[in-house]
Amino acid sequence: MWLRFSYNNMHLLQKMDAKVEQLLLIICIIIPILSAQDSDLGNLQTLLNAWQNTPPTWDDDSDPCTVGSWKGITCTNGRVTKITLSSMQLSGELPEDIDQFTELEILDLSYNKDLGGLLPSKIGNLKNLKNLILVGCSFNGPIPETIRNLESLVYLSLNSNSFTGRIPPSVGNLKNLVWLDLSTNNLNESLPVSSQTMPGLDNLTHAKHFHLGDNQLSGDIPLRLFNSNMKLIHLLLENNNLTGTIPSTLGLVTSLTVVRLDKNLLRGSVPSNINNLTNTTEMFLSNNRLTGPIPDLTGMSVLNYIDLSDNSFDPYDVPSWLSTLHALTTIKMHNTNLGGEIPVALFRLPQLQHVVLSNNQINGTLDISSNPSTQLELVDLQTNDITDFTQRRHYLNSIDLILQGNLICTESGVNNESFCSNTTNTDLLNLSYSTPFNNCAPTSCVDGRVSSPNCQCAFPYTGFFTFKAPSFSSTVNSTIYISLHDSLMGFFKNASLPIDSISLNNLSRNSEDYLMVRLDVFPLGTQGCFNRTGILEIGFALSNQTFKPKKDFNTYVFDAESYNKFCSGILLGTEDTKNKSSNTGIIIGSVVGGCVFVVLLVLAGMYAFRRKDGVERATQQSQPFALWDPASGSGAVPQIKGIRSFTYEELQKYTNNFSETNNIGKGGYGMVYKGSLPNGQLIAIKRAKEGSSQGGLEFKTEIELLSRVHHKNVVGLIGFCFDQGEQMLVYEYIVNGTLKDSLSRAFICAGRSGIRLDWTRRLKIALGAARGLQYLHDHADPPIIHRDVKTNNILLDERLVAKVSDFGLSKPLSDADRTYVTTQVKGTMGYMDPEYYMTQQLTEKSDVYSFGVVMLELITARNPIEKGRYIVREVILIMDKNKELYDLQDVLDPTIGLSSQLKGMERFVDVALMCVEDTGQQRPTMSEVVKELESIMDLVGLSHGTESSSTSVSYEGTSKDHSYPYSNDSLFSYSGGSLSPKLHPK
Ligand SMILES: *[C@@H]1O[C@H](CO)[C@@H](O)[C@H](O)[C@H]1NC(C)=O
Ligand SMILES: *[C@@H]1O[C@H](CO)[C@@H](O)[C@H](O)[C@H]1NC(C)=O
Repeated sequence: MWLRFSYNNMHLLQKMDAKVEQLLLIICIIIPILSAQDSDLGNLQTLLNAWQNTPPTWDDDSDPCTVGSWKGITCTNGRVTKITLSSMQLSGELPEDIDQFTELEILDLSYNKDLGGLLPSKIGNLKNLKNLILVGCSFNGPIPETIRNLESLVYLSLNSNSFTGRIPPSVGNLKNLVWLDLSTNNLNESLPVSSQTMPGLDNLTHAKHFHLGDNQLSGDIPLRLFNSNMKLIHLLLENNNLTGTIPSTLGLVTSLTVVRLDKNLLRGSVPSNINNLTNTTEMFLSNNRLTGPIPDLTGMSVLNYIDLSDNSFDPYDVPSWLSTLHALTTIKMHNTNLGGEIPVALFRLPQLQHVVLSNNQINGTLDISSNPSTQLELVDLQTNDITDFTQRRHYLNSIDLILQGNLICTESGVNNESFCSNTTNTDLLNLSYSTPFNNCAPTSCVDGRVSSPNCQCAFPYTGFFTFKAPSFSSTVNSTIYISLHDSLMGFFKNASLPIDSISLNNLSRNSEDYLMVRLDVFPLGTQGCFNRTGILEIGFALSNQTFKPKKDFNTYVFDAESYNKFCSGILLGTEDTKNKSSNTGIIIGSVVGGCVFVVLLVLAGMYAFRRKDGVERATQQSQPFALWDPASGSGAVPQIKGIRSFTYEELQKYTNNFSETNNIGKGGYGMVYKGSLPNGQLIAIKRAKEGSSQGGLEFKTEIELLSRVHHKNVVGLIGFCFDQGEQMLVYEYIVNGTLKDSLSRAFICAGRSGIRLDWTRRLKIALGAARGLQYLHDHADPPIIHRDVKTNNILLDERLVAKVSDFGLSKPLSDADRTYVTTQVKGTMGYMDPEYYMTQQLTEKSDVYSFGVVMLELITARNPIEKGRYIVREVILIMDKNKELYDLQDVLDPTIGLSSQLKGMERFVDVALMCVEDTGQQRPTMSEVVKELESIMDLVGLSHGTESSSTSVSYEGTSKDHSYPYSNDSLFSYSGGSLSPKLHPK
């Protein structure tokens, strides 16, 4: 209340005479009395005393019902109606007196992992409560029976706590309940159903969601649990200890779309009327003790995902009706006593992605040759009796086929086929997928900040989505995740939440077959942090399921990590400091003089803070240059040897005033201009976006590194400019642009540009680039890990000599960590070392991995990830070491030359595949790669220059040869900043 005095009243206040003072004293006395009488102030005091880490604004003696005053508190008509404090790092217990908030409608305390204890039974007095959300806290003990009194309750989310005991039957009283989530607790005993005297779950006829999985519920599933009045759409009972048979009443709940009964102890036959669940899209009956015939599911025509694995059904041939369920993406019937042949039609199901029929007695010939689903990714038939296999390579390229343990592998002598080994790795992309950066180079950040998709350093709000029944199983189809990304971002935008961007990453499937996806949410604005309002609103949107994902994902649980990087508040200085003892103004008996004193203190504090804020803002604006302005003598000045410093005017002159025609490229970093020095030398100028402070660090890194690096196969830095607020790097101009362009040009219209990269040229390019990297690893001091090796960052000069470029992400190894550096994962999807990705330990071998991908790209001219297919996996899948050219003709770039002229190709592929081994240890060093490439050159009869691989070669310096036999400058598209990963949706 008093804080409404603004900074402008300061002078007034200073001149305050005694009368004004008296008036203020009266206000000081009266206001607290009034507010204490007709508001929840006292009740909030109770919470404030019971909890640690309440928002600092709670301490400021203001009226909690003033909008925006007490964070997380919303009032209607002077009474608190919403307490939303998601992800605040609250700790403590919920006080008994919570029932004093008699008008409370929403209580969201989600994701406060240290908030717990018993749920007080008085909570039942909150007659107006509609949403009770305690997901991701640490409540324990029983769920109180008094919950029956929450007559208005619509949404109950007590999941991911440590509740014990039974599900109180009285929950059946909550007539308006739509959402019931009690999953992931330690609840036991049986599912309560109504009796003469008691209500039960079956009375919840408005409920659409029963999420009761991951508990220790036991006993039979009561016949009474289901009836035709129910409107359930999601029934999740997985991973409990439920016994008995599946009740036939289940077939009455025809609204069901998701049924998960897996991981229980269910016995007996599946009731035949389960076939009535014609709206069901995902059904999991796996890991039970079901017997009798395999259920006939012909009526379930919209079924996407079926898992019947690990049951003891009667022996039966692979059911032919499976091939009639046209929406199936996933069939899992591992260990279900299946026999017979797999119908050819099965693989023609148009959306089929994964087929897992391992550990059965399937026999005969496997035939995937006739128009299989274009989405087919995995066919796992391990341990069956299949004797033969009809395939077409064309289709097989992209399918992970596992036939290990079949007669075809054990008896017919083809056991060296890749499908007979278990080396296929469906998890590779699983681990490394991330939604892409927005056409910019990830920034290297400090202090635990992370580069956002817009390449700004910030503290993200982070958590995991758990999707318990997605309709798909594909892990490589990135469009699914991009659509989730877009719908979530659209939702946040619509809700006007302070969000700059979001990223989805770290996909995985856990043992429950839940799909887990990590979410990073980045704040809007330059401060790089969220304020409390932002966090609790985002938290609520996810804990309350206000955000609804597209149908494919069905249902989710979000579990946030605590956020502790809140931005400073605007009223009381740093929000993160809290002083409970200052919270005394509310107490009516407080000394009147003290009241004035508090007012004065607060106003003075505000004044000081605003001053400070202004100063900070001013410093921040000049920051990128202040960091290493040579004039500032900050010691952070780049170590620059032998490179020129240009003025802005000079570069302006050399580039025709940065004219449009001189603009040859654009990256996240800014523009790239071509220019020429007075001596005729051509230069390429990377000009950072005006006013962009991001990239400042890269700029410095790049100058420092490049000035020390002189090698024929590394792009040379000529100079730089930081003048008049500009950041520019001046490189030697490399006329033929990126290797990526030459490869794709060759692919689309060989010959147009005059560059045709035949096999021998590609070999030379590979060797050149390898030598450049070897130099960085072995001869640069300190050694440098490039960290973003890719074909966009390998340039070709007029003689097609390869030059490694773009050090924006590079890491020098300091003496302390000669072997590896632990660092936030950066790089480009498709080229990134999976080991580095998982361990965050960057070694030289990470560059070796990326180089292996470059080698494969060199021979195939394909993007590392194209249409969701990963080049490494494709090559491994189709190669056959017994055949000529390892049988890779289908994937080779047609312009590479005639098969007969591809001498040494097999050894080249061998080297590439060694480079992409799973662990760094198994990979060769760059110097071994260089030696091997040299010996391939020998084999082909090409000279590879007199330089030995270990000689550091002098810098070529200015090129005097200006005739560019292969060049067509108009096609030169310089990849300025390390451009974005190529995973954008088409
Ligand atoms: C609960 O449902 C049962 C059976 O449908 C019914 O007999 C009983 O009256 C209901 N109880 C309440 C409290 O609604
Ligand atoms: C089945 O789904 C359709 C389309 O979503 C819906 O209109 C229909 O009401 C559902 N059937 C039942 C029994 O809920």
